[in-house]
Amino acid sequence: MKALVYHGPGKKSLEEKPRPVITASTDAIVKILKTTICGTDLHIMKGDVPEVTDGRIIGHEGVGVIEEVGSSVSNFKTGDHVLISCITSCGKCEYCKKGMYSHCTDGGWVLGHLIDGTQAEYVRIPHADNSLYHIPAGADEEALVMLSDILPTGCECGVLNGQVKPGDTVAIVGSGPIGLAALLTAQFYTPAEIIMIDTDDNRLNVAKTFGATQTINSATANVVETVKALTNGKGVDTAIEAVGIPVTFELCQSIIAPGGCIANIGVHGKSATLHLETLWSQNITITTRLVDTVTTPMLLKTVQSNKLQPKKLITHHFKLDEIMAAYDTFGNAAKEKALKVILTND
Ligand SMILES: NC(=O)c1ccc[n+]([C@@H]2O[C@H](COP(=O)([O-])OP(=O)(O)OC[C@H]3O[C@@H](n4cnc5c(N)ncnc54)[C@H](O)[C@@H]3O)[C@@H](O)[C@H]2O)c1
Ligand SMILES: [Zn+2]
Ligand SMILES: [Zn+2]
Repeated sequence: MKALVYHGPGKKSLEEKPRPVITASTDAIVKILKTTICGTDLHIMKGDVPEVTDGRIIGHEGVGVIEEVGSSVSNFKTGDHVLISCITSCGKCEYCKKGMYSHCTDGGWVLGHLIDGTQAEYVRIPHADNSLYHIPAGADEEALVMLSDILPTGCECGVLNGQVKPGDTVAIVGSGPIGLAALLTAQFYTPAEIIMIDTDDNRLNVAKTFGATQTINSATANVVETVKALTNGKGVDTAIEAVGIPVTFELCQSIIAPGGCIANIGVHGKSATLHLETLWSQNITITTRLVDTVTTPMLLKTVQSNKLQPKKLITHHFKLDEIMAAYDTFGNAAKEKALKVILTND
């Protein structure tokens, strides 16, 4: 089968690999119909995720059709159309029982990381019963690719951890696919204001069409002064960090109102300064989270009822065998005006 293979920092190729086979009775083999590229895959390609070894097939998002199931898989059968979760989980360990699938003792984020992933014609999904979701009949399968990772991430790590409530003022730092997913799902809770902050005017314009009430370009404006001016000097009730660099986490600390929540989503490679000397008396909550994908069933229902339109996040389409070009487009997102790219296996 064709697959996108990582060969160390800066090296990848589309090549022939053996088709995956069932190795445990709880596995399923899924034929990929649609997959995509994540910002995290770009981090892998740069060598920022050293656990990913030479020869690994990348990718942790997608929809497909079940080709074969192991003898103890009871929830799925050959021919079922499924949504693949970026998080693999057994459903039985202590962390799974708490809903912390991301910390499953026999799973977590393993796809396209510690085991072969979804940027291929076929993928092996361990613990299939808990790691796959049935696609409702008539659903737009392409739109559902956005539910493998980015919408649960924006919702769980940003909106739920950030305790967004009706009437609140929310700032989201970073208007990439994840920040935009937080923007879409924050609106479930009817905050009064959502301020989007980024350095890319194209992404800020997209944010306006997705429901942002204000946008600030942090390359040209003083964000702290602008946010204070927009909030009667108080700051925001929730500040969501969706970039993953020290300066944006530190910015969240400068714009949070007393009693507010700073919800970190970004994957950080460097330490950021914690300003306890100003925050200690401000009743601030700071949260961190690896996406658990516990909101996936809820998100599926909101897509079915058209309350959530994930398709808006898709800007480009390629065939799976054009994946090298897709990486170029996604890797030059600002120039290409790219959000999410869809790769179709036909
Ligand atoms: N916690 C989790 O489970 C989880 C899951 C998936 C992704 N992530 C992380 O979420 C983050 C966002 O992901 P993404 O795919 O949207 O990334 P992305 O790179 O596409 O988007 C980041 C955005 O930040 C903007 N930006 C860069 N520097 C900035 C600055 N100084 N000020 C303001 N904006 C700035 C960029 O213009 C871009 O639009 C990444 O760090 C990613 O690794 C976390
Ligand atoms: Zn991802
Ligand atoms: Zn588990």
